[in-house]
Amino acid sequence: MALSQQQLKNLAAEFGTPLYVYDAEHITAQYKKLTDAFAQTDTKFFYACKALTNINILKHINSIGCNVDCSSVNEVKLAFLAGFEPKRILYTSNGIHFSEIEEAQNLGVHINIDSLSNLEKFGQKFGHSYPVGLRLRPNIMGGGNLKVSTGHDQSKFGIPVDQLDQILDVVSKYNLHIQNLHIHTGSDIKDVDVFVKGIEVLFDIIPSFKKLESIDLGGGFKVPYQDGDGETDMPLLAKKVNEAFSNHPNPNGKHLQVWFEPGKFLVSGAGYLLTEVNVIKENPNTTFVGINSGLNHLIRPMFYDAYHKIENISNPTGEEKSYAVTGYICETDTFAWDRKLNEVKEGDLLVFYNAGAYGFEMSSNFNSRQKPAEVLVKDDKVQLIRRRDEFEDLLKNQIID
Ligand code: LLP
Repeated sequence: MALSQQQLKNLAAEFGTPLYVYDAEHITAQYKKLTDAFAQTDTKFFYACKALTNINILKHINSIGCNVDCSSVNEVKLAFLAGFEPKRILYTSNGIHFSEIEEAQNLGVHINIDSLSNLEKFGQKFGHSYPVGLRLRPNIMGGGNLKVSTGHDQSKFGIPVDQLDQILDVVSKYNLHIQNLHIHTGSDIKDVDVFVKGIEVLFDIIPSFKKLESIDLGGGFKVPYQDGDGETDMPLLAKKVNEAFSNHPNPNGKHLQVWFEPGKFLVSGAGYLLTEVNVIKENPNTTFVGINSGLNHLIRPMFYDAYHKIENISNPTGEEKSYAVTGYICETDTFAWDRKLNEVKEGDLLVFYNAGAYGFEMSSNFNSRQKPAEVLVKDDKVQLIRRRDEFEDLLKNQIID
């Protein structure tokens, strides 16, 4: 299933490093896990494309029948370029200027509104004419760490459910057609009961929305980052969702479709970051492995203390030793402390796993370094899907007298 070390070595030789590599087959297999698990439930999946927006990835997502969730109008435009029709695009806004919602409305996509202020403006401008969704804050703690937890009672995301009266005032003032109720409690959620709690919160308020067609439970499914780590149990989640619906038959007398917005679940394990060792530095207690990458290419370890499995594919059977793997940025950009790797030498290739979600997408040009190239492996074919940045790219938009 996964790409082999030999395949990765060949790709590094062909395209150079640092290099992001994506395996289309993995994305397809993950999507199938979702659709198989929810075969008995009326469900729609929208890929949260903020995880990885390369247009070729979006085209692949489209080709397997998955819909797309966007967090900006620019992502909506990318989805159009990838061939998605408006009704297969969801735009879940957060903290944005109303003009962006107007743009999304004009493009004809599904919209989730996340503030009373924008809901009011939407009502004034469009009234009943355009069905719309509400992004709610369910006051539930979910997710792997506080930085990626978005549904709790101190979170900026969504309209707090306890403001239901105010929501209903706006809805009735403008006779709004509320089509969808959305929540997203966080990322890295292994415990399926977090989703069930979310459904319970929604069931309490569903009767107030007579024209509702769907409930949207957001994304956040966990993927395994290290050996022994689990993944959100999809068949169990599907079972619990179905049970929740049978415990609350027809809360407002209408059939409701269930929507999800998986990001990581679809693309995390599909991605690899290939890097090369620049320098080895010995310290009394630590051996530093300095690679040709850094927080400018993969910020998750520094930003979230995220664990990424690393392998030395140049010496896979070498003696295991302990290393600190560090980047080449003028900041402390440590990928891993005290990490066991097969003996590392300068020039060796190190591969980072689970680099598909929020890897390239959160990269930057910090220290005026170029972003890596991206390659897609699909149907045994290899396609360069983004050229490596060149020096001139750093000057783009700079005004030079
Ligand atoms: N839907 C909404 C409204 C979201 O805000 C997100 C992610 C998703 C869906 C997809 O969540 P996922 O299935 O990928 O967990 N950069 C962090 C994760 C932050 C996610 C932000 N929102 C990381 O690398 O762990």
